[in-house]
Amino acid sequence: MTYKTVGIIGAGVIGQALFDHIQSLSTVRVDYVLAPSGRNKPGRDPAITDFIIDDIEEAIARKVDLVLEAATPDLLASAGPRILAHSDLCGFSCSALSDAGVERAIQDAAAAAGTRFFLPHGAVLGLDGLADGRDQIDEVVITTTKSGPSLGEAADARGIVFEGSTRDACARFPRNVNVHAAVALAGIGFDRTRSVVVADPHTKAMKHHIAVSGQTLQWDITVSSMSLGGVTGAYTPKSAVGSLQRILGQTAIANV
Ligand SMILES: NC(=O)c1ccc[n+]([C@@H]2O[C@H](COP(=O)([O-])OP(=O)(O)OC[C@H]3O[C@@H](n4cnc5c(N)ncnc54)[C@H](O)[C@@H]3O)[C@@H](O)[C@H]2O)c1
Repeated sequence: MTYKTVGIIGAGVIGQALFDHIQSLSTVRVDYVLAPSGRNKPGRDPAITDFIIDDIEEAIARKVDLVLEAATPDLLASAGPRILAHSDLCGFSCSALSDAGVERAIQDAAAAAGTRFFLPHGAVLGLDGLADGRDQIDEVVITTTKSGPSLGEAADARGIVFEGSTRDACARFPRNVNVHAAVALAGIGFDRTRSVVVADPHTKAMKHHIAVSGQTLQWDITVSSMSLGGVTGAYTPKSAVGSLQRILGQTAIANV
């Protein structure tokens, strides 16, 4: 598909990086940026102000070619299926799909309309390998280590704060384990993927270790990037722009 109009939901770290990239292009334009905190938020980039709307119904009604969601899992859960009725959708808050009803609604809406839901690799690497090897993989364990406050825990929290299924991890840390959701969706699902969340009071990094094994394969991937202060590490805005470039088909040599 040739994309001409894009809507961005969320004007935070990821939304701003996506906006900046599209503004540098001549073939595609931003139609709106949905940000309920409004135009006058202190520190808001003036370039984005003219594009800001605050009503999800207006955003859906604009029927752009592509929507980039970088807001919250609740927003993706409630609006995702309705967006997919008219637009392709890339969802960064993919822990929303840990609710089986939401995952089904997203799949059904895309199938009914002939649209696509894009799952960005976000803060981690290797979703392609998980999807390709799915039938041969027996075990996937993803371990995330962050400071307590970036997990919504106390500053002095230390050690394992969660161990269990990725479905349960997403319910407990919806804003912090989107990468676990992405790994589960790409690979062996929310119930078979195991999640471990570790608090380290001394770290300024966000570290993710993915251990994959099966009878015929095995790999370990560790990704670490510095925290930008909120829920997102320094690598993710770059990764988000890379995913957008691949969706738009802008790269002369395409990774497949
Ligand atoms: N998949 C990944 O690897 C990955 C990595 C980092 C962050 N994330 C997720 O991506 C999302 C965006 O991350 P970020 O760092 O840019 O967050 P951020 O906190 O910097 O920005 C979030 C933005 O969403 C807006 N927002 C909040 N509620 C909204 C609503 N109901 N409707 C529209 N906009 C709303 C806020 O005003 C803000 O502009 C978060 O859900 C985060 O958890 C995913």
